[in-house]
Amino acid sequence: MKRPIAYVAGTGRGVPEKVMTNHDFAAIGIETSDEWIVERTGIRERHIAAPGETTCTMAATAARRAMERAGVHPGDIDTIVFSTATTDRLLPSTAVDLQAELGASRAAAFDINAACSGFIYGTSVAEGLIAAGNAETVLVVGAERMSSIIDWTDRSTCVLFGDGAGAAVLKPARKDRGVLGSFIRSDGSLANLLYRPAGGAARPFDAQVLEERSFYVKMAGREVFKHAVRSMAEACDRALDAAKLTSADIDLLIPHQANNRIIEATAKHANMPMDKVYVNVDRYGNTSSASIPIALDEAIERGRVTEGMTVLLVGFGAGFTWGSMIIRF
Ligand code: ACO
Repeated sequence: MKRPIAYVAGTGRGVPEKVMTNHDFAAIGIETSDEWIVERTGIRERHIAAPGETTCTMAATAARRAMERAGVHPGDIDTIVFSTATTDRLLPSTAVDLQAELGASRAAAFDINAACSGFIYGTSVAEGLIAAGNAETVLVVGAERMSSIIDWTDRSTCVLFGDGAGAAVLKPARKDRGVLGSFIRSDGSLANLLYRPAGGAARPFDAQVLEERSFYVKMAGREVFKHAVRSMAEACDRALDAAKLTSADIDLLIPHQANNRIIEATAKHANMPMDKVYVNVDRYGNTSSASIPIALDEAIERGRVTEGMTVLLVGFGAGFTWGSMIIRF
């Protein structure tokens, strides 16, 4: 087994108070039903940010909790790795806004975008910085205000997503605790199966973009589903290989929370019974890169992850990107 380089010293989450249930879609003119959404996805409700509640403010709540639990102060943070597909502004990064908000004045701060796999990508970057001796205390954040980028007139996507943030503080490993193995991979040839066609530098926002609504998320749901199942299965195998472990060594599987059916297929492939799988997609929907750190933080708070346990994180998202990580707590 690999000797860990970095460990998770604390986690936190920041989630909007406002809850939107499946029944609330009728009030905004969406033809759907609780039954359709639950049967296809397992989602019953999601949190939606209020005006003024931003990717940065949710991240700040998550980060403060993670720092408190890790026993570190803003001045101790030397890197902020901020994963988001919903930056508050296109320039500068939301990471620097978070740095200013926290007063983490010693930190280098930058955004990464690996969509729903972003927290695993961010934690891999943090581990690399610690391994190279370039950082000692890294704040990794996954935060998303998905409600700003989904088309609230498109029932095939708007029912799937929610807002929120999760965070973790990473420090150099202590004894045998920390990241035991990880894996990240992408396939950009499939980018147009889940994307925002316009609004970026290649096709800036204009009247036609507004009319076409092409600055919102577009998704080929069935195709995404197939790739998600395949890639999350591969990712589980690769992390286990990297850590030289088998599924029998894993105490809890925390998959990206997009869809119950994808989660169940991943668990089946990984040979993990559902009572060893953390699921909260019913209460949050898909919060993209926030989903894994929110689930991890809840699992720790609820006593599902305790000292000495070995946890497998696995994610998949737009890009496509996918990845996995095994952490001993
Ligand atoms: N309510 C009611 N009916 C709906 C809704 C809705 N919200 N959305 C679509 N429909 C209708 C469609 O119009 C279609 O009707 P038609 O047959 O008359 O044309 C019918 O339902 C079937 O549509 P499909 O898209 O084929 O439905 P499917 O069974 O594939 O389920 C879903 C759609 C839930 C999106 C599924 O494909 C899925 O979960 N895909 C994965 C997508 C995902 O999770 N993406 C998140 C980002 S990537 C990630 O995080 C893993």
